[in-house]
Amino acid sequence: MANTKSIHGEWSSRFAYILATTGSAVGLGNIWKFPYITGENGGGAFVLVYLGCVLAIGIPIMIAETMMGRRGRQSPINTLSTLSTEANASKYWRYLGWTGVIAGILILSYYSVIAGWAIAYVFKAIFSGFSSDAAIVNASFDDLIASPVQLIAWHSIFMVATMTVVMQGVKGGLEKAVQLLMPTLLVLLLLLVAYAMSTGEYFFEGLSFLFHPDFSKISSDAVLTAMGHAFFTLGLGMGAIMVYGSYLQGGVSIAKTTLYVAGADTIVALLAGIAIFPLVFANGLEPGSGPGLIFQTLPIAFGNMTGGWLFGILFFVLLVFAALTSSISLVEPMVAWLIENRGFTRVNASVISGGAIWALGVSVVLSFNVWSDFKIFDKTIFELLDYLTANLMLPIGGFCIAVFAGWVMQQRHVRDELALPEQQYRIWKFLIRYVAPTSVFIVFLHVLGLF
Ligand code: PFF
Repeated sequence: MANTKSIHGEWSSRFAYILATTGSAVGLGNIWKFPYITGENGGGAFVLVYLGCVLAIGIPIMIAETMMGRRGRQSPINTLSTLSTEANASKYWRYLGWTGVIAGILILSYYSVIAGWAIAYVFKAIFSGFSSDAAIVNASFDDLIASPVQLIAWHSIFMVATMTVVMQGVKGGLEKAVQLLMPTLLVLLLLLVAYAMSTGEYFFEGLSFLFHPDFSKISSDAVLTAMGHAFFTLGLGMGAIMVYGSYLQGGVSIAKTTLYVAGADTIVALLAGIAIFPLVFANGLEPGSGPGLIFQTLPIAFGNMTGGWLFGILFFVLLVFAALTSSISLVEPMVAWLIENRGFTRVNASVISGGAIWALGVSVVLSFNVWSDFKIFDKTIFELLDYLTANLMLPIGGFCIAVFAGWVMQQRHVRDELALPEQQYRIWKFLIRYVAPTSVFIVFLHVLGLF
């Protein structure tokens, strides 16, 4: 029998749930990662594949993951054991919850380091303002990346902030933070887009880079990255959305709320791209310059704008908060499990998980400087963790979620939980049973050179 309520509490309203889930979805993935991987993978065609993946794979799986969370009402590991018992399926399904917990730990270890860069930029801006000279901006980024001590300090601050919010539990910390932050971030992004428009011809060059697909530029690995990013940006495939769904009260339409969240997430990513690429071209920068892209372009805009100092500070503060509302959802599956299965208090569970992730994060910091030559499969530790999680673990997790919701769960339970009109239910069912899993599978075959 499905549980009716989670022991960890519930969102106070549907709106609070939408905000928190949007908080989990919108983060560094939209503003930092989407622009730089789009730049590295040639632009338009990559964006189109990413958008296709959000529609055909991401949204159906997001509905499935939320539905499973709400039905199981526990940490993803226990939810999967409960739901597999309910469906008379193998107990091994709970390992899917485990891989999710591990993916969350691995992602947060580097996510926190990048969020640390954003914190560093807040302070850099306050004390020395923004330069409008691309060379100075570049040099300042290189200096930051070269200093393990600084990076570890910023990473530590971000981890402490994350775990402090997680300690407060679902409602206390999270809900309040997001309500103010999300709308303000959107306004600032619009402001940056307006600034990008003022670059004239470069604005159109930026748009054309983003929206004019040239399929000759896209490799099979780029297709995998685009698909992986659809999972990463929506926060799918590792139990984050499942655990948020477990705090959602019955009666709220999962499909509708998912569409809002996925829509908001996509809009924020596209706006970030529209704001950044005109600046890249106007300043003769390289679109494919890698993870430093927004840190090397946006300061130039702030340096040139009237009032840019203040907007810039505000922007990086908001970026840190956007990262925070995502990082919380990355550890929540592990914290919920430690509480449920190991009898930890929320505080102890948070300290233990936070400590472990912090330690792993230190190796990510070093991979940007001292250990930058240390490579496994030709990737630094940062690149390897990113590839392993976003491109492999999340899509594989998502694939298993699609199979579980589409084929393993009893359809009357799924119907009950989703409460969709018949035709919409059929569309979703078709997507979750056939389209989503096959697409993920085909992309993997393609990368292996088998398709
Ligand atoms: N969606 C977040 C972002 O785009 O920054 C990152 C993320 C959150 C990934 C939660 C995975 C996750 F489970």
